[in-house]
Amino acid sequence: PQVEFKSPDGDSTVLQGEDGFSLMEVAVQNGVDGIDADCGGALTCATCHVYVDPEWLDRLPPIETGEADMLEFAVEPRGNSRLSCQIRLSAALDGLIVEIPVSQH
Ligand code: FES
Repeated sequence: PQVEFKSPDGDSTVLQGEDGFSLMEVAVQNGVDGIDADCGGALTCATCHVYVDPEWLDRLPPIETGEADMLEFAVEPRGNSRLSCQIRLSAALDGLIVEIPVSQH
């Protein structure tokens, strides 16, 4: 599936991810700036925080308790905040657009 990362300065990076990988893994493997992912996907850091494009918000799997708890530690969370390590890519998410926060710390 294709995913797009919009950076705070207006740049945009479009990548092809593989099914089963997380959105965070695709970002890190491709050197996308601003997805720090300090814990490597263990749901203990909140530095893989992204803002999901409103068009996509309802199409993602729901937030589970662990993610919701960790999201409270994200920098400037909003209603469309998610942790990108918890979003598994699949064909259903082809075209997903997320915005990278200004800061993860
Ligand atoms: Fe640490 Fe997502 S990578 S919570």
